[in-house]
Amino acid sequence: MKTFQLNNGNTIPAIALGTWKSKAEDAYEAVLHALKTGYRHIDTAMIYGNEEAVGRAIKDSGVPREDLFVTTKLWNSDQGYESAKQAIRTSLDKLGLDYIDLYLIHWFKGYDKQRASWQAMEEAYDEGLLKAIGVSNHNVHHLMHLLEHARIKPMANQIETHVELQNEFLQAYCQEHGILIEAYAPFMSWRVNDLLEKEDLQEIAAKYGKTVPQVTLRWLYQRGIVALPKSTNKSRIEANFDIFDFALDDTDMERIRGLNRGKKMFTEFDNVPY
Ligand SMILES: NC(=O)c1ccc[n+]([C@@H]2O[C@H](COP(=O)([O-])OP(=O)(O)OC[C@H]3O[C@@H](n4cnc5c(N)ncnc54)[C@H](OP(=O)(O)O)[C@@H]3O)[C@@H](O)[C@H]2O)c1
Repeated sequence: MKTFQLNNGNTIPAIALGTWKSKAEDAYEAVLHALKTGYRHIDTAMIYGNEEAVGRAIKDSGVPREDLFVTTKLWNSDQGYESAKQAIRTSLDKLGLDYIDLYLIHWFKGYDKQRASWQAMEEAYDEGLLKAIGVSNHNVHHLMHLLEHARIKPMANQIETHVELQNEFLQAYCQEHGILIEAYAPFMSWRVNDLLEKEDLQEIAAKYGKTVPQVTLRWLYQRGIVALPKSTNKSRIEANFDIFDFALDDTDMERIRGLNRGKKMFTEFDNVPY
């Protein structure tokens, strides 16, 4: 399993199984199959409603806990000092784990809540309940504030990232501050068919004897970005993991770079209504 390193020295597997919209039983089967395939990183969140199923699959897989990397997230309504502490305990209970490998503030909901939630997360990190802490859906100005107030620097920022939204500037800022980028919606989520139809990607995929989703994941990996492809289909779970036996050359990396449209599909980070 290929990994990247977080700024606290912990390693993080480069590919995670995403589980948004995976209903509990589907998530259970998908996680079980992913772990059998070789995945060691699962991405879930309290709001996905499948933490219990993910935890059950982890337990039933027989994979040793120390070989696994589990990410979950603090939901918006739980932001705040006491409520974040409680949310961490609830997620640990639901997952049936003694610790979470990476815990993220799910969305930016204002600076006061960010500071209070972060303090609770820092304390849980000190206690060993969280092995790494970070954020999701944070832009440069949100991170600047956090970096100014944090005792422990954020280790990751999970953001929408795909060929149409490449986030080069945000990645550069994060790199400067030791924050690893994780790409959610790497296949453009509900627009996956638009991704599959891109002729440039089809041509590149044919050149390497790979598929468009595999080329997309490989491109992220070569940019030093963790990718979180979601699937509940067994053969697609396998295919999405099979990206480590080829490398895109500079010309193809540049060609994919040319597909950037700065086009966001998910909610803009400063205007989260939920
Ligand atoms: N932090 C956040 O706010 C946030 C937001 C969104 C997502 N996320 C995380 O990121 C993960 C990924 O994002 P996402 O679920 O929105 O979308 P995604 O991974 O970009 O795309 C998922 C879609 O692609 C299909 N798919 C998967 N592999 C495929 C393949 N090899 N060929 C063709 N189609 C394929 C899936 O269908 P099948 O299941 O039928 O294969 C599903 O319809 C989430 O599951 C979640 O863990 C985080």
